[in-house]
Amino acid sequence: MPAVCVAAGLALVLAAQGCHSSATHGAPAPASQHAAAGGAASAIPARAAATFPADWRFAAGKPATIAAHAMIASNSELASEAGVEVLRKGGNAVDAAVAVGFALAVTLPEAGNIGGGGFMVIRMADGRSAAFDYREVAPLAATATMYAHSDGTTGTESVVGPLAVGVPGAVAGLAAASKTFGRLPLREVMAPAIRLARDGFVADSAFSLSVAHARGRIAPYAGASVFLPYGEAPAPGTRFTQPALARTLALIASDGPDAFYHGPIADAIAEEMRNDGGIITREDLARYTAVRRVPLASTYRGYTLYTMPPPSSGGVTIIEALNILETYPSLPPFGTAAYAHELTDAFQRAFIDRNGKLGDPAFVEVPVARLTGKPYAHEVRSTMADHAQPTSRLATTVPEGSQTTHYSVVDADGNAVATTTTLNDLYGSGVFVRGAGFFLNDEMDDFAAHPGLPNQFGLVEGPQNAIAPGKRMLSSMAPTIVLDPGGQLFLVTGGRGGPRIITSTAEVILNTIDYHMDLADALAAPRIHHQAIPDQLRYERNGLTQAVRDSLAAMGYTLGEGQATGTCAAVMRVPGGYAGAVDPRATGGAAGY
Ligand code: DON
Repeated sequence: MPAVCVAAGLALVLAAQGCHSSATHGAPAPASQHAAAGGAASAIPARAAATFPADWRFAAGKPATIAAHAMIASNSELASEAGVEVLRKGGNAVDAAVAVGFALAVTLPEAGNIGGGGFMVIRMADGRSAAFDYREVAPLAATATMYAHSDGTTGTESVVGPLAVGVPGAVAGLAAASKTFGRLPLREVMAPAIRLARDGFVADSAFSLSVAHARGRIAPYAGASVFLPYGEAPAPGTRFTQPALARTLALIASDGPDAFYHGPIADAIAEEMRNDGGIITREDLARYTAVRRVPLASTYRGYTLYTMPPPSSGGVTIIEALNILETYPSLPPFGTAAYAHELTDAFQRAFIDRNGKLGDPAFVEVPVARLTGKPYAHEVRSTMADHAQPTSRLATTVPEGSQTTHYSVVDADGNAVATTTTLNDLYGSGVFVRGAGFFLNDEMDDFAAHPGLPNQFGLVEGPQNAIAPGKRMLSSMAPTIVLDPGGQLFLVTGGRGGPRIITSTAEVILNTIDYHMDLADALAAPRIHHQAIPDQLRYERNGLTQAVRDSLAAMGYTLGEGQATGTCAAVMRVPGGYAGAVDPRATGGAAGY
């Protein structure tokens, strides 16, 4: 049953002075009691027209999805609707987030998963907050040099095949969140996912193309018989069923996470590892635990952020970058050279710290308080100049030596959940647990798997993120919840895209807070990216005007077109309810009621 949504219809698209602009979207109804996000609503900060470069690929002013009571935005419309179904059954935002997580494992197998891991940040309307860390861990037999070849070369074992797999955490994390904050039993919350796997869904062209593009990853392993029957991806318009996955999900629904970590699913994973030459054992699975953590809390221009602590680098890096930007009384106009310069320098400095200082807090000391403190931002700011400074000169602390999906949920009480989950690459390592029906991640590559060398995202990290048995690999995932200066829910966001998650999420936050864009514009706006190494300011094609690029080059920046952005999915409080939107660069959709 499709969700009832009302698209904001009053958006105007103006072509003024060579730019796309948008007027603030109209909302369907006056502020209702439901929009109060758990109490008397504070005034919602007003939105303003967005201005993008003339030849930017997305017009400003597209409507978001609007609903009065609750909203979910994810990379699969079917998964968003699964979450709404659970909300309508009396579930809260956490129930819905767990339902979306399991549904994504069915409808978005490139990234949604039970064979990977993720992070969930929760902010309940009564003020409680929590973070669930269900990041994968290195198997007990892993070593810091496990990917080094004896002849000194490196290969692809950290990204493809059984050695790339970290011990999966998704089932433990989703179950822990459900048990701690949910209202409904797991079996009810998982019902839509089980149905989608058992009865199937109609493949659309995005699904079909995704599988076809990943043929090389999928074909060598057991998933080929499910995803490439007769050697081809399911054609658009055909019904795609996953009976083995339906049985696995039903087992988890009835027996809980023990079925996955101690029972028949653990047997199937261990068996698959033995068959394919992997190192994860029954003991690895039996030892796995999700960790409940305290979210990082910070402020930015009077707004409050709740975000993910280590082993995510996402929260620390976003907070550090925003703190640096907050040292400016206001930001320059959007898209100008001054804007790109200030953001780039903040990102570059924050990534220098990210790459060298962050890791799993259970194994290494992580200076979270210092890096996220306001005084540190002022220290960093005092070393900035009016021109580019090379990372090699700044990064005295850096030692020498895709696939993910984000979803955002708000329920009718104003409880909010931001979740990012990943297999790392599309379809993870390619390894598929036969009989159980799911892919296993290639998260081991998120460690400094080849010390001193870049990983697949170009990140160069140090010993803080070295491989050790039982250790969680550093992540860029950054599920984040923002409250407005009145303490009411404002924004739930996060994204996919490796290190670009951090810059994309930060830019969506800046677009909504500093540039007052409405949600769809905030997601459609052109983005820039800098991750310290490579020392390059990346921009999206036509996202910066030629004049701005010339000015930045004159300031000493090395510019690179492409690989500048992740993709986000977000929910924002608006008059009369909530807006939900998915990045126009990505698949998926928002649903609410
Ligand atoms: O945890 C991380 O940082 C990565 N495994 C995320 C990978 C990712 O976002 C790939 N998606 N495009």
